[in-house]
Amino acid sequence: MAIDPQVQRHIMGHFATGVTVVTAMCDGQFAGMTANAVTSLSLHPPLILVAVEKTATMHAALTASRHFAVNILDTAQEALSRRFAQRGPKEVGDLTWKTADSGAPILVDALAWVDCRLAEVLSGGDHDIFIGEILAGDCREGSPLLYYCGKYKRLEA
Ligand SMILES: Cc1cc2nc3c(=O)[nH]c(=O)nc-3n(C[C@H](O)[C@H](O)[C@H](O)COP(=O)(O)O)c2cc1C
Repeated sequence: MAIDPQVQRHIMGHFATGVTVVTAMCDGQFAGMTANAVTSLSLHPPLILVAVEKTATMHAALTASRHFAVNILDTAQEALSRRFAQRGPKEVGDLTWKTADSGAPILVDALAWVDCRLAEVLSGGDHDIFIGEILAGDCREGSPLLYYCGKYKRLEA
């Protein structure tokens, strides 16, 4: 018998992660979703993956846009993470972003970002795995926002 989903969530919540907001422009509209199911996949070629729930608004946005950015958040961006983890439409009017070469929006205050072209989509149960070819990226010094056991954390000095 398979493990109970809540037990799986509790156990896997012990896997501490960073926090990202995945962004895309879809029909001229900014789309964003908080995501921590993100992994640097390959260097040759340069690939990253993000697992997106099939019912998420972002799933349709990524499928349509074919380009996306992964913005790695710092501790000052916890509110942004909470905003883009909410169900339903998100307020984006106050955000400052720049447009990457691919057309994907980059959050200017992100700790790091990569701009991606959608390379492949694999099925993963109730999620799909979006594999992006990394076209460009940048990073700065800072303190990463972390997520552990359902709570936001930060590195101790
Ligand atoms: C820390 C954190 C990480 C998350 N990571 C993911 C993820 O990797 N993939 C995903 O599909 N949803 C993830 N979510 C949930 C989505 O952010 C959330 O379901 C989505 O923003 C809902 O928006 P929608 O109603 O517009 O689809 C995460 C939520 C939080 C708080």
